[in-house]
Amino acid sequence: MSDAALDVVEFLLTTSVYSDDRTLDENDLPPSYRRVFWTGGVENGDDDDDSESGRTPAGISRPLSVTTTTAREATDVSRPWEAVSELMFTERDEFSGTITLAQQGMAEKWFAERVDDDRLRENPTLAKHFAEHEEFGETFDVTHEEAREENRPIQADRVWIDGLLEEYFDEEEDEEMLDLVEVRAPEEVDMSLDDLVLTEDQENELDKISKAIEHRDYLSNIGLREIGKLLFVGPPGTGKTSTAQALAQDMDLPFVEVKLSMITSQYLGETAKNVDKTFEVAKRLSPCILFIDEFDFVAKTRSSDEHAALKRAVNTLLKSIDNISLIEDDVLLIGATNHPDQLDDAAWRRFDEIINFPKPDNNMRADILSLITRRMEIDEFDPHLIAEATQGLTGSDLRMVLREAVLEALTEDRTTLTQEDLLNAVEEFEERDTLKNMDMMGGDHDALVAGGDLGKASDGGEPSGHSHDHDHDHDH
Ligand SMILES: Nc1ncnc2c1ncn2[C@@H]1O[C@H](COP(=O)(O)OP(=O)(O)O)[C@@H](O)[C@H]1O
Ligand SMILES: [Mg+2]
Repeated sequence: MSDAALDVVEFLLTTSVYSDDRTLDENDLPPSYRRVFWTGGVENGDDDDDSESGRTPAGISRPLSVTTTTAREATDVSRPWEAVSELMFTERDEFSGTITLAQQGMAEKWFAERVDDDRLRENPTLAKHFAEHEEFGETFDVTHEEAREENRPIQADRVWIDGLLEEYFDEEEDEEMLDLVEVRAPEEVDMSLDDLVLTEDQENELDKISKAIEHRDYLSNIGLREIGKLLFVGPPGTGKTSTAQALAQDMDLPFVEVKLSMITSQYLGETAKNVDKTFEVAKRLSPCILFIDEFDFVAKTRSSDEHAALKRAVNTLLKSIDNISLIEDDVLLIGATNHPDQLDDAAWRRFDEIINFPKPDNNMRADILSLITRRMEIDEFDPHLIAEATQGLTGSDLRMVLREAVLEALTEDRTTLTQEDLLNAVEEFEERDTLKNMDMMGGDHDALVAGGDLGKASDGGEPSGHSHDHDHDHDH
């Protein structure tokens, strides 16, 4: 019997059990199932009568009915009825197109014989059902609680996030708001910790915070609250944004990003209100990660004599930060800045952990190079040699170098690169970097002359001497 049949039977069983057992809620359904049945906006916290507001009650209403369409969407099986039509216990109503279990008991037995604990653990509805029925007592070793614990909460689903944003920001005047905040569901974040090379220090700090999140009930019990506000500090391109996103993905949390530069938008009067709303959204989405990039913006606006409304917005922001907590609200706050020197004491004080994002050293650069080339073919590839030639470059720079090398090789219809391609791309990159950094008004125009030591200007700060090899001729 095919996997497709198993997938469809699981869906049929789940919908049937869920329809009958009123103690189950949406967090008992696997995300791919509940997405199919989710309707309406998000319910308001206050219990005003739905008939009056005209809003469809948000959520999943019973009974869940399975049609070819819902089954296809939930299971990814392209012809769901064909997959199960030969089983004795399935039935289809030709008229309505619904698929049902004629013999639920048979379906349960059939299913139980074919799945293991790991699979059952991904379905809290069935985990509960099988745990409660004695005839399956010995078959599985999975509790309902375990399965629920592992199932992603509804708050992380895109449908739920959209409903929430609509509820908070549906008025015309709030259109600006969507520039200030961006919310991504964990499945929409395409960055994982496996894609990043971290320093030992960074890894330890991230471990610490994952543990703190896991044990936040304990921390709350012992009264430890000053935890869960991180500041990522380091030059552009060192992986601050990527690491925050990767954390969201690895911990299956929604990622709420505040773009502070948007605070200066024209409707400043609205901004303070919108900052408030953003934090409200984060609390409703919790557990989640709230990422505030360009944090130095805060200090800058406080020290200069900016528009009063701007200052008000920034003060609201600081107050909101004070009032949000990992322990009480399940919101992990991560700030990031390229300019730590511009932060004042008031800003520093708000974070309980500072994580340094330095420019990568030799070994890290070699590791980054190996990582980002893992799906490429490169003849005579020696990442350590390239690392030597790229002092001062960040992870982001290295990605650009690689992209350049790949595109250059493609102009010769090559999909296998050589070490030489990479070295040429490094040189190309540094020329561009020099041009970018040159002060064109009073700058050193000689540096533009071919053959000058262009590498010099791009050294980003490692004290050790240059080991660039600029001998290769290249003609583009
Ligand atoms: N340590 C690293 N390991 C792997 N990739 C990195 C690293 N640092 C930066 N990158 C890559 O460089 C790009 C830019 O990184 P980003 O996170 O936006 O940097 P930042 O936010 O510090 O400016 C991303 O594609 C990221 O994957
Ligand atoms: Mg960034």
